[in-house]
Amino acid sequence: MSIKDKNILLGVSGSIAAYKAALLVRLFVKAGANVQVIMSEDATQFITPLTLSTLSKNPVYTKFIKNNAGEWVNHVELGLWADLMIIAPATGKTLSSLAHGYSDNLLVATYLSARCPVYIAPAMDLDMYLHPSQKRNLEILSSYGNHIIEPESGELASGLDGKGRLAEPENILEAVANFFKTASSWSDKKVLITAGPTHEAIDPVRFIGNHSSGKMGYALAEEALSRGATVHLVSGPTSLSIAHPNLKITKVQAAQEMYNAASEHFDDYDCMIYAAAVADYRPSTVATEKIKKKGADMQIAMTPNVDIALSLGKIKKPHQYAVGFALETENEALNAQSKLERKNFDCIVLNSLRTEGAGFQHDTNQVTLYFKSNKKLELELKSKREIAKDIFDAIEQSIHS
Ligand code: PMT
Repeated sequence: MSIKDKNILLGVSGSIAAYKAALLVRLFVKAGANVQVIMSEDATQFITPLTLSTLSKNPVYTKFIKNNAGEWVNHVELGLWADLMIIAPATGKTLSSLAHGYSDNLLVATYLSARCPVYIAPAMDLDMYLHPSQKRNLEILSSYGNHIIEPESGELASGLDGKGRLAEPENILEAVANFFKTASSWSDKKVLITAGPTHEAIDPVRFIGNHSSGKMGYALAEEALSRGATVHLVSGPTSLSIAHPNLKITKVQAAQEMYNAASEHFDDYDCMIYAAAVADYRPSTVATEKIKKKGADMQIAMTPNVDIALSLGKIKKPHQYAVGFALETENEALNAQSKLERKNFDCIVLNSLRTEGAGFQHDTNQVTLYFKSNKKLELELKSKREIAKDIFDAIEQSIHS
């Protein structure tokens, strides 16, 4: 799928970088896209609607307007028209309004109404961009599934030098064009992903668990969905949420339930990714009432849990591609490679608790991928969403090599 004939809705807010919107519109039109533009009132101080209307060959909207029936709905109509919305440049004020749903202008109201993927390209001065409030707003916007096109570094309008410049129009076009290219690349694939921790009950109020937040597994699910795959996410207890028409999510507590959900219809999956941190043992018995404190010591007898990846690895067919994870604290590479073999993975993703910013809870991860073919790929520390993208790129390459 390409950008040609796609409906692109460009939102322009009031930054000096608004002049780059003209170049962006031209690039989209040259690539064959249909372009409509919404400007905030402030943006019209930097570049005229006439310029963008001439380049896009469409009227430019700055205000809510009524349709022929006298209804006040142009934000809804524009939102439904778009195959993709891009907000470039997005000022600090616009980021805040988008993150908190403060729809006092047409641009933000349309963003809230849009059902399509949304790209956001911030632009602001150095210290403003570094302020924790902006970081938080971008995190919120990412967590809603928006795609952020990071600003670039260089000379800023203030004369300061650093990060904050709107990404170059060519780079924005590339990100959007890549979106359409990858959006359908997995459309005939079914993917199973396990995510999060398991909670193994001790009694009605206590359990044995671990620190997994589910962030890595959910990022993988988002990436698979963005490539057009049908995804079954089997998730242990987490505070995360995700929704998509191509997503089935099964919420579980304990390893046995995770196994039951993952093994059902196992033959249907093309790719399995085991990102969950599954408890290897569970209490042998679960007390029916809350266990009361008695004496100094207490022992809990434990029974081995089913190893989901190992069991499913035994019935994996040659056309199915399995990716395991290994969280290690010592002999990392050796342990990961032995799991790769033992559990019949095609690839294993090693993350180490010894690396700052990697593993449990963090929004970032640093991983090394080991393949059955003996290939190794070391990735730098980056967001879990970007790691998920790199893992899918690596799976694609490995399948096609
Ligand atoms: O959730 P986050 O906070 O984002 O953290 C991500 C993560 C650190 C949990 C994730 O990146 C990760 O490393 N998950 C696997 C952690 C782990 O417990 O690995 P393991 O070495 O115990 O298991 C190896 C593989 O077998 C894993 O793919 C695991 O899902 C699978 N396994 C393990 C035991 C079991 N009973 N069943 C399994 O399927």
